[in-house]
Amino acid sequence: MLNEIDFDAIDITCKPPQEEPERQYYFIAKCRRYVEEEKKRLGRPLTAAVRTFGCQMNARDSEKLVGILSQAGFAETDDEQADFVLYNTCTVRENANLRVYGRLGYLNTLKKKNKNMLIALCGCMMQEPQVVEKIRKSYGFVDILFGTHNIFRLAELLWNRLESGKQAVDIWEDTSLIVEDLPAERKYPFKSGVNIMFGCNNFCSYCIVPYVRGRERSRRPEDIIDEIRKLVASGVVEVMLLGQNVNSYGKNLDKPVTFGQLLRQVEEIPGLERIRFMTSHPKDLSDELIEVMGASKKICGHLHLPVQSGSSRILKAMNRRYTKEQYLELVDRIRAAVPDISLTTDIIVGFPGESEEDFEETLDVVKRVRFDSAFTFIYSKRTGTPAAKMSGQVPEAVVKDRFDRLLSLVQKISGEVCTRHVNQVKPVLVEDADDHMEGYLTGRLDNNILVHFPGDLSLVGKIVPVYLEEAKGFYYMGRMENERREDT
Ligand code: 5AD
Ligand code: SF4
Repeated sequence: MLNEIDFDAIDITCKPPQEEPERQYYFIAKCRRYVEEEKKRLGRPLTAAVRTFGCQMNARDSEKLVGILSQAGFAETDDEQADFVLYNTCTVRENANLRVYGRLGYLNTLKKKNKNMLIALCGCMMQEPQVVEKIRKSYGFVDILFGTHNIFRLAELLWNRLESGKQAVDIWEDTSLIVEDLPAERKYPFKSGVNIMFGCNNFCSYCIVPYVRGRERSRRPEDIIDEIRKLVASGVVEVMLLGQNVNSYGKNLDKPVTFGQLLRQVEEIPGLERIRFMTSHPKDLSDELIEVMGASKKICGHLHLPVQSGSSRILKAMNRRYTKEQYLELVDRIRAAVPDISLTTDIIVGFPGESEEDFEETLDVVKRVRFDSAFTFIYSKRTGTPAAKMSGQVPEAVVKDRFDRLLSLVQKISGEVCTRHVNQVKPVLVEDADDHMEGYLTGRLDNNILVHFPGDLSLVGKIVPVYLEEAKGFYYMGRMENERREDT
């Protein structure tokens, strides 16, 4: 087991092993020796900053990257004036790319002040050949480049860079490899993301993810259960099962398993109290899953179900493979089985060919479903996707106007819907001290809404009953149930 590995005992004078993860343990040990020597030479610790752009998958990948770096002896820091800076990038929308290019100039100025500084880039952006080309050509100060399929090789790449003194580039087009048992440094001691699958086979016509994350690969259920058991043993009470499309989990395994079956197994794990998952594709959401959710005591009453558009015509062009009516009917079935469920969604405005009527269909879905919240996005053209070649790109001013109208509707409904638990007592997972109020804590309801209430820091990581006194639109002010009883 990973916790038992003594990296200092690994023989690094011999050749590296061929098998994984042993090969990476070997390179972690090599980097560790280097970091030790540098620490002595400089008379201070070596620091590493990992900055994450994008989604929950990237956030989980970053925990693994931080895990490798901390086993290699680096002290983790948020400050980018560090000895090793790694950007885990996102490319789902053009803006995400532009932000990274903007930040690189700044990193270069830091590197001029600290000539030992190493800069690395990984993640979805690096899976685009034109991006890698541009960085190799115009950003020669970047030391290491790798993609989404080989994050487990960070220590080996770092070692290659140190040994050769040259930019280390390692991008894989796709992979069928899943490397288990690598270190991960969790951001929160009491909750954790758990990858259950990687990649996506859906090819929604606007989306670059299938091109940069590769084909669907599911982890074996026994590996997932084993990881969660270990997490629970180390204090985790809530897990978020992660995949681009969790509803098609298990289809490509030697012994196929459904997502519902996996959830039933996860539910059995003693000590685990809350189960979340994302993302669900409406076309693959099965009756079995609805039944499992209805019967579960641990699955949180929250479902993120991206609709993308309310127009069946646009949904067809998006290759989503459901209609407006099918989506609404699915929502009815889910609500019948889990009456108080919170529904959230993603919506894209300004997809090529979207007319005012199409957009009004989207508003109609928002009014009918009354989402707890919705992430709204302006369509971003991604080179290489089918939608990038579609005619009827919507003028910017029209898109902006629709976006504003959608946002104000979403916010109005969200403000109304999110107050529905006021004057009720609900379990809250305590996350941290409140940033703004002395003596207050911040926690989350099972539907992910924040609650602030007076309490002691010793409660962090525990689930406590909280009376929701006041609804503030997107969060609640509350009071712990036992204290309220004493008061009244
Ligand atoms: N433009 C705008 N939004 C996009 N998304 C994915 N691709 C694009 C794009 N090209 C949104 C979808 C998805 C979320 C993660 O990002 O709504 O559900
Ligand atoms: Fe992209 Fe569609 Fe896959 Fe989601 S399901 S990652 S939107 S292609």
